[in-house]
Amino acid sequence: MNLKVENVSAGYGSVQILNNLSFPDITQGQLVGLLGPNASGKSTLLRCLSGILAFKGHISFAGQEYSKTNHKAWFEKVATMPQSPPAPTALTPTELLWSTARALALPYSDQALAHRIEDLFTSLGIYEYRLSALSSLSGGKRQLVGLALALIREPELMLLDEPTSALDLHWRMTVLQLVQQRIKTQNQIAVAALHDLDLAARYCDTLVLMHQGVVVAAGAPETVLVEDNIARVYQVEAKISRSPYGHLHIDVIGPLPGSSPHV
Ligand SMILES: Nc1ncnc2c1ncn2[C@@H]1O[C@H](COP(=O)(O)OP(=O)(O)O)[C@@H](O)[C@H]1O
Ligand SMILES: [Mg+2]
Repeated sequence: MNLKVENVSAGYGSVQILNNLSFPDITQGQLVGLLGPNASGKSTLLRCLSGILAFKGHISFAGQEYSKTNHKAWFEKVATMPQSPPAPTALTPTELLWSTARALALPYSDQALAHRIEDLFTSLGIYEYRLSALSSLSGGKRQLVGLALALIREPELMLLDEPTSALDLHWRMTVLQLVQQRIKTQNQIAVAALHDLDLAARYCDTLVLMHQGVVVAAGAPETVLVEDNIARVYQVEAKISRSPYGHLHIDVIGPLPGSSPHV
């Protein structure tokens, strides 16, 4: 069930964003963190992996090369949580999950589906909002509904674009822990674009650090989050240490002179 990404190039129209991008094979049970400043190509790579953006090069999952796979079969294995949460409409989280599950023809009886939805809402802390209009929920709660939408599919490969950006610290950790547990117990793979380096180091098995459409470093968190890489990619001076609890901690001292903003 490995995920392979080799020499992937992609872009929009004539503008190339990803440039011959590769990283080491990802084995099942791994949570992979995609890191890098704004505009480094994280969302673009997730779009290639999800099958919605054409690319050159090779992406394969579970022994099947994307370009040679029936695309319907690819979409059955892969679920994506996009960067923007479900829109603030009059739909309730329950209606959204039910309609999505039925539109995708997920093979659950009504009773089994009701249980799964309730379990997901409970573990994501949004059970009490299940019958509220999405328009009445905060961006953070809608982001959790978006995660439930991806998880209800039980994908073998889960792609999460900044899944915790609108959440406070408690729910950021809860979400990463939940994703980590699910992929470990069910031998799936998750690739998540993340901004918080400390949390990425803590919950991810592999980190892929991107900059301007290429991979600067990939591997175990302590090999990727080193001072030189952080300086080069984020244009900041940082000191890396281990907390007394054994967690990697990135202390950003300040911006390096002469850097230009990526916004
Ligand atoms: N739909 C699009 N059309 C044209 N350019 C895009 C589109 N989406 C992203 N880009 C450009 O691609 C580059 C990489 O963006 P993106 O993959 O979103 O980076 P990241 O997710 O790391 O912030 C940026 O320069 C961005 O402006
Ligand atoms: Mg992005």
